[in-house]
Amino acid sequence: MAHYYQRAELQDIADFVGDSLALARQAAKTDADIIVLCGVHFMGETAKIICPNKKVLIPDPQAGCSLADSCKAEELAEWKQQHPEYMVVSYVNTSAAVKALTDIVVTSSNALKIVKQLPEDQPILFAPDKNLGNYINSITGRNMALWDGACHVHSRFSVQALLQLKKDYPQAKVLAHPECKKIIVDIADVVGSTEALLNYAKNSDENVFIVATESGILHKMQLSCPQKTLIAVPPEATEIIVDGKLTPCSCNECEYMRLNTLQKLYECLRDEKYEIKVDSFLAQQAIKPIEKMLRMS
Ligand code: 13P
Ligand code: SF4
Repeated sequence: MAHYYQRAELQDIADFVGDSLALARQAAKTDADIIVLCGVHFMGETAKIICPNKKVLIPDPQAGCSLADSCKAEELAEWKQQHPEYMVVSYVNTSAAVKALTDIVVTSSNALKIVKQLPEDQPILFAPDKNLGNYINSITGRNMALWDGACHVHSRFSVQALLQLKKDYPQAKVLAHPECKKIIVDIADVVGSTEALLNYAKNSDENVFIVATESGILHKMQLSCPQKTLIAVPPEATEIIVDGKLTPCSCNECEYMRLNTLQKLYECLRDEKYEIKVDSFLAQQAIKPIEKMLRMS
């Protein structure tokens, strides 16, 4: 199984490609004995929690997530303690330990739908993505308390470059992932998960799209609408750490997602490595908010 942010060659040979909700759903229904999750660690962990009796492998065990890393379980536990009457809603981009402290898990596909189902007078702690949380607050009029976390890839899209692209392509529709900064989401015509953006580009009558999310999505998007023009929003000039060194970066790729390569996938299938393990007590706690999510979405 592969996420839309994987390298094109991995998406091409995967049996299933999807967003994080679709990957979780697929894990729940597959009868395969082994799942190889071409994505980041929390996606493999989610699959393992859903399928404790299956072997779940990831081609590169270093494939983490800056957003998941921004929320440590001990800190969340403290936040919860300070707000005993609050319910905890966590984005799927979290560790198993954070999910174990959570009442309902959400993904970018179903966050809005699920929060709308919660009683209006129920106070909510939302972790860890403040951009997604802000977006939900703005649509629902709720006042969820937000964890101060963000995805480093979605935070670095250049507003100036986006405004210039809109001038250059006045007929284009702007598609943005809700992990983007508020100003990008405010400019966007369509806000949604990777799958929602893909479906919009495929099914709409428009022909030109400016896309503000990790550029891996452009692969399937272009395959599903070959005649349409897709333009990736560039990031602010930035530097990322590659092999321990600060390196100039002018792309909107998630370096964690890109750690998985065809060679590593081959070795993963050949040697059945690297296996994702989740502590069984944590898994028993973490499955509850995931099942709740699957029911409510
Ligand atoms: P989706 O749920 O849209 O697939 O997003 C996952 C993710 O990690 C976005 O950065
Ligand atoms: Fe995490 Fe951002 Fe990469 Fe998604 S794009 S896996 S949120 S670091």
